[in-house]
Amino acid sequence: MVKICCIGAGYVGGPTMAVIALKCPEIQVAVVDISVPRISAWNSDTLPIYEPGLDEVVKKCRGKNLFFSSDVEKHVSEADIVFVSVNTPTKTQGLGAGKAADLTYWESAARMIADVSKSNKIVVEKSTVPVKTAEAIEKILTHNSKGINFQILSNPEFLAEGTAIQDLFEPDRVLIGGRETPEGQKAIKALRDVYAHWVPMDRIICTNLWSAELSKLAANAFLAQRISSVNAMSALCEATGADVSQVSHAVGKDTRIGPKFLNASVGFGGSCFQKDILNLVYICECNGLPEVANYWKQVIKVNDYQKTRFVNRIVSSMFNTVSGKKIAILGFAFKKDTGDTRETPAIDVCKGLLGDKAMLSIYDPQVSEEQIQRDLSMNKFDWDHPVHLQPTSPSSMKQVSVVWDAYAATKDAHGICILTEWDEFKTLDYQKIYDNMQKPAFVFDGRNIVDVAKLREIGFIVYSIGKPLDEWLKDMPAVA
Ligand code: NAI
Repeated sequence: MVKICCIGAGYVGGPTMAVIALKCPEIQVAVVDISVPRISAWNSDTLPIYEPGLDEVVKKCRGKNLFFSSDVEKHVSEADIVFVSVNTPTKTQGLGAGKAADLTYWESAARMIADVSKSNKIVVEKSTVPVKTAEAIEKILTHNSKGINFQILSNPEFLAEGTAIQDLFEPDRVLIGGRETPEGQKAIKALRDVYAHWVPMDRIICTNLWSAELSKLAANAFLAQRISSVNAMSALCEATGADVSQVSHAVGKDTRIGPKFLNASVGFGGSCFQKDILNLVYICECNGLPEVANYWKQVIKVNDYQKTRFVNRIVSSMFNTVSGKKIAILGFAFKKDTGDTRETPAIDVCKGLLGDKAMLSIYDPQVSEEQIQRDLSMNKFDWDHPVHLQPTSPSSMKQVSVVWDAYAATKDAHGICILTEWDEFKTLDYQKIYDNMQKPAFVFDGRNIVDVAKLREIGFIVYSIGKPLDEWLKDMPAVA
């Protein structure tokens, strides 16, 4: 029986391994993590992450051929294939701070694999790591190998949170990079055979190690660039009276461009886009390519600009101050159908409003109060380190309250900001909400999900991104 072990029971390791276990009943899969609470949650009825369809898959396999354990060393030493899916945050200190990936977690995982291994292993890089990491890991493993043969593969994960299970069931492609030696090719085949249980062969792409690593960074950079492109257009639409939805619809009809990722919004978030682009920028700089580095940096700058613009719209429409005013924040996760808040634009928008002394009442169907308080009290980049390294018991901010209902959040509020496109926000009783708010009542739709005409009819002053401006906002500056 082939044994697989995955180090890192996070957003990637958990769902990916659960699907491998489901599709390959004859393979035994163990998911291990240094975080004991995370493993306990995976073994409980309340999984540590929210992902549509995940519960069913885990329930079908857990205890049969899928196991979650904190006995990292035991499972690694027994495995034939070891996936490494640990976090790879942006460095906060030292060389490359603010851009380069911090490989502390990766390196300690690699050293542990070398320490505990007694038989040959295929080590699969699942985390997104900057180009040439596999080579570094290979060095750690072979210099500590005690005669054991390690083959390193890069198998970047392309799943998107919120649709992870669907993406894993029917991936656009599976990418496997490996050495071009006979041993390397044999390892590639072993991993390809795992995916071939359910992925058609023509969707499994095999490349060399570096192409696989760089392709993942490139894919995320291209996706983020599309969002920044349409967001840049949204600013121009507001200035000129065009409607960004009409523009993006017309643009997306071009089959060379396509409609996906062309929705204007308050900005992209999530654990990957910014981190991966910063890595790309760093790699370009290290390779003497400042023009290329600046080109990609601009994608992040437009994203920051979009969040700043949104906050400025709010403050300037509300008589240039939100001090002491209650603002309801609907949605805190970085997108719908996930409870993940890493790099969510909501953090920057909330911090911007708190900077102007607003009182925030926050509601998200999947994000806990503790998480929100922690996010709002954290420094940039701290979020991707394990919880025990993050600020402990964040001092609950007086200006922030977290509630469990959109109606409670909006009661007596002066304004509403929609920051995540949860479906339930489309069907709220906005008349009831309006009746319970201070007047004039504002809605700032950062995801373009509300029916603007209907809300204006009720009496709201509505701002939606990239749309013709409400009379009220016309002469107000968007950027300070
Ligand atoms: P995560 O932070 O949810 O999970 C990582 C887990 O690794 C944590 O539970 C941590 O406790 C554990 N860990 C760290 N060091 C360890 C060690 N030495 N031994 C055992 N466990 C250890 O991270 P997530 O989101 O799953 O991301 C993992 C990687 O996958 C990152 O490189 C990310 O860039 C990449 N990725 C993430 C995607 C996403 O949508 N979240 C999509 C595709 C790739």
